[in-house]
Amino acid sequence: MKSVIALLVAALIATATAFTGTPLQLTRSTPSARASGSSSLVMRERACDLLGKKANRKARVVTFSHKRIHKVQQVNLQWKRFYSDELGRSVRLRLSTKGIKTVNKYGSIDAAAKKFGVNLTKF
Ligand SMILES: *[C@@H]1O[C@H](CO)[C@@H](O)[C@H](O)[C@H]1NC(C)=O
Repeated sequence: MKSVIALLVAALIATATAFTGTPLQLTRSTPSARASGSSSLVMRERACDLLGKKANRKARVVTFSHKRIHKVQQVNLQWKRFYSDELGRSVRLRLSTKGIKTVNKYGSIDAAAKKFGVNLTKF
């Protein structure tokens, strides 16, 4: 009888060790890789670089049966390249289409970035 119990305990330990697996490898990306934008594999927040607009997560859809279903209204984000006279190079930003209109309104990306307090050197 004792040998049966010992066999059961041994089997339990063997199955327990079989499912522990390898420990999670949490890889941290360097800040330079995160700042480089689209080439980085790290997921970015879906937000406008100029205006900081984010998705509306409180939207609802009302069905025919009058159920209210949650939905997310995403920001219309576009990659857009502007030439910055202050930096003497072009900058590539992920802007909402509203943000693109705002840049057009202020005439240049430099004026718009100054108005909204965005540092263009990281783009
Ligand atoms: C913009 O960022 C760069 C580097 O991160 C920094 O050297 C510079 O002083 C910043 N400019 C302003 C206006 O904050």
